[in-house]
Amino acid sequence: MSNPNASSEVRHALPDRLFHWVMAIAVIVLGATAFLPIVGIKFEWVPIHWMAGVVLTLAVLFHLYRVFAVHGAGGMSPGADDLREVVRDISGKGHDGLTPAKYDAFQKAYHGATALTVLALLGTGLPMLAKIDTALWKRNPALLTDQTWGVIYVVHGAAAMLVLFLVLVHIYFAFVPEHRAYLVSMIAGRGPGHARGNH
Ligand code: HEM
Ligand code: HEM
Repeated sequence: MSNPNASSEVRHALPDRLFHWVMAIAVIVLGATAFLPIVGIKFEWVPIHWMAGVVLTLAVLFHLYRVFAVHGAGGMSPGADDLREVVRDISGKGHDGLTPAKYDAFQKAYHGATALTVLALLGTGLPMLAKIDTALWKRNPALLTDQTWGVIYVVHGAAAMLVLFLVLVHIYFAFVPEHRAYLVSMIAGRGPGHARGNH
C-alpha cells in the first residue's frame, strides 16, 4: 500500500466522496438556515433546515455502514503514534519511525471533534421534529418536559456554533496549496495513500 508514487492510489472511494459532499452541503445549508435569520436575513428557514437535517442523518447512517462494513474504525482511531507525531511536530523533528497512516493526528482530531459535534446536533435536532407541524406528522411538544427541552436547545445551539468554527477551519485548510493533493482526492478519488509516512 505504501506506494512512493503517491498519487496513483484511490484515497477516497466514490461512495465515501459522495458521502463527504452530500454531508458537507447538508451542513452548510443547516448553518445558513440557522444563522442567516439571526443576522437579519429573514425567510421561511424551518422547512429547509429540518429537511437538510433529515438528509444529514441519512448520510451519517450511510457513513457508519461504510465504516463498519467496509473500512473498519481503526484508520480514524487515535493511537500512541499520533501522540508521538504531535510531540515531534512541536519539537520540529521529522516523522521517521512512525507507522505510516492514511490520516495524520490532526485529521483524526478534526474528525473526532466534528463527528461528536455533528452527532450531538443530530441527537438534539431529531427530537425537535416533534415541535413542528408537517404534512407527515402533527406537533407534540408534550413529548418531553420543559426542562429536557431546555437542555436540548442549549446543546443544539452550542454544538451549532462549534461546528461553524470547525467547518471554517476545515475549509481554510482544504484550500491551502500544500494540501492540494487531498482536495483533488476528495473530488477525483486518487491521491496520497498516507497523510503520515509519505514524507
Ligand atoms: C461514531 C461515529 C463515526 C465513526 C466511528 C467514524 C469513522 C470513520 C472512519 C474509520 C473513517 C476513515 C475511513 C477510511 O478508512 O478512509 C472516517 C472518515 C470520514 N468521516 Fe467518519 N466516523 C463517524 C462519524 C462521522 C460523522 C458524524 C461525520 C460527519 C461530519 C463523519 C465524516 C467523515 C468524513 C468526511 C470522512 C472522510 C471520507 C472517507 O471515508 O474517505 N464521520 N470516519
Ligand atoms: C467546501 C467545503 C469543504 C471542502 C472543500 C472540504 C474538503 C475536504 C478534503 C479535501 C478532505 C480530504 C482530506 C484527506 O484526504 O485527507 C476532507 C475530509 C473531511 N471533511 Fe471536508 N470539506 C468541506 C466541507 C466539510 C464539512 C461541512 C464537513 C463537516 C461538518 C467536513 C468534514 C470532513 C471530515 C470529518 C473529513 C475527514 C477528516 C480529514 O480528512 O480531515 N468537510 N474534506
